[in-house]
Amino acid sequence: MNVLLVGGGAREHAIAKALKKSDIKLFACMHNKNPGIAKLCEDFHLVKETYVEKVVDYAGRKNIELCVVGPEAPLEKGIVDELEKNGVSAVGPKKNAAMIETSKSFMRDIMKKYSIPGNVEYNVFDNVDDAKNFVEKTGEVVVKPAGLTGGKGVKIVGEQLKDTDDALDYVKKIIENRIGGIPKVVVEEKIVGEEFTLQGFCDGKTIVPMPAVQDNKRAFENDEGPNTGGMGSYSQENGLLPFLRKNEYETAVDIMQKITDAMKKEGREYKGILYGQFMLGKKGPKVIECNARFGDPEAMNVLPLLESDFVEICNKIVDGKLKDVSFMKKSTVCKYVVPKGYGIKPMSGRELRIDEKNVEKNGAELFYASVNEKNGKIYTTTSRALGIVGIAHSIEEAEIITEKGLKHISGEIYVRHDIGKQDYIEKKVKRMETLRK
Ligand code: AMP
Ligand code: GLY
Repeated sequence: MNVLLVGGGAREHAIAKALKKSDIKLFACMHNKNPGIAKLCEDFHLVKETYVEKVVDYAGRKNIELCVVGPEAPLEKGIVDELEKNGVSAVGPKKNAAMIETSKSFMRDIMKKYSIPGNVEYNVFDNVDDAKNFVEKTGEVVVKPAGLTGGKGVKIVGEQLKDTDDALDYVKKIIENRIGGIPKVVVEEKIVGEEFTLQGFCDGKTIVPMPAVQDNKRAFENDEGPNTGGMGSYSQENGLLPFLRKNEYETAVDIMQKITDAMKKEGREYKGILYGQFMLGKKGPKVIECNARFGDPEAMNVLPLLESDFVEICNKIVDGKLKDVSFMKKSTVCKYVVPKGYGIKPMSGRELRIDEKNVEKNGAELFYASVNEKNGKIYTTTSRALGIVGIAHSIEEAEIITEKGLKHISGEIYVRHDIGKQDYIEKKVKRMETLRK
């Protein structure tokens, strides 16, 4: 079977590795050559993932039967609709279902319409005067452009925003400058707690959940500095997290199932990977956002643990016949290697020395993200360069493996070494205990 992968990041490298465990021929469309994906492919095409027509044309030329779409941008452009029109099955929601990620107001409105638990107080505005009352009444708010901003448009009172006046200024700026592509803004109550990610395979009817993961978005240790695409993540052998109880995980799964049901009732059947970003606050898990794809880095935590055949899962998603999926009962710790200055002023174009063999010898897995290859050498870009993942029976052991792997990467790089370390985990558990009192 010929399978096409769309996307060229570390998330897609993890998808590629999972697909290649089955007897398939892999092809890829990616905007930049990912050396890890390239090695696993029969052939690849360097093309922007959002150039849907070109991707569909390539799929036709290579007799592709199944396509897995990694990033959200081509989903927003309706790549799944176009592939299907051309007889190619695809794992990913159609344009009208991908709106669960591409429009933050759509996601909140669906949750409200179907009284799905886990929603927050929110309102959608298209002018600043209307927002004034809500912002002043709510106090601590989060301001989000309603459209897609690549995870960088959200600002929070008490963090990037000083007070309500600051929040209203940002509301105005989003509307006037159409940040996120549309003059619409979502203002919501701020939830205090610990974040976790729950990803699920979804065949239009049923959510089959994966182990919970915690991503770390802040650039620097101790969760300081600007928000990034994610600096690293971890998961625990029992599928929960040190601060997340079983009943809370189950509540989150139930919320995702209710979202799936609601999408079906709306005539927007959701097939693909559904990603729930939750904040575990005083009142249980609240939905922060939904994504229409695997998380990056979270894909690197869950996909290496898959015991079930991934290609079979993909086919069952397409056919609407998904059943149980099994994962190894192991912990994972992923740390991203980024160029020095990432998040502020990244040092791009610097050579990265990568001893892949020794990374693997230490039991760690390497996933390439954004790098440039020139004359056999690898260079940084302005984005995250590669992820190293340790897998073991406990988070503590997995973290040690990750660090051993990292010793074989050098250059002008930065890594958040605190992710997954014992004192870092204990701090989170304590914070959650205090909040629960
Ligand atoms: P998003 O792009 O929606 O994931 O938001 C980026 C980050 O802002 C999230 O990872 C959270 O840390 C934070 N955030 C978003 N919405 C809220 C909220 N309602 N309460 C607290 N933090 C939030
Ligand atoms: N890890 C955050 C995301 O993939 O959106």
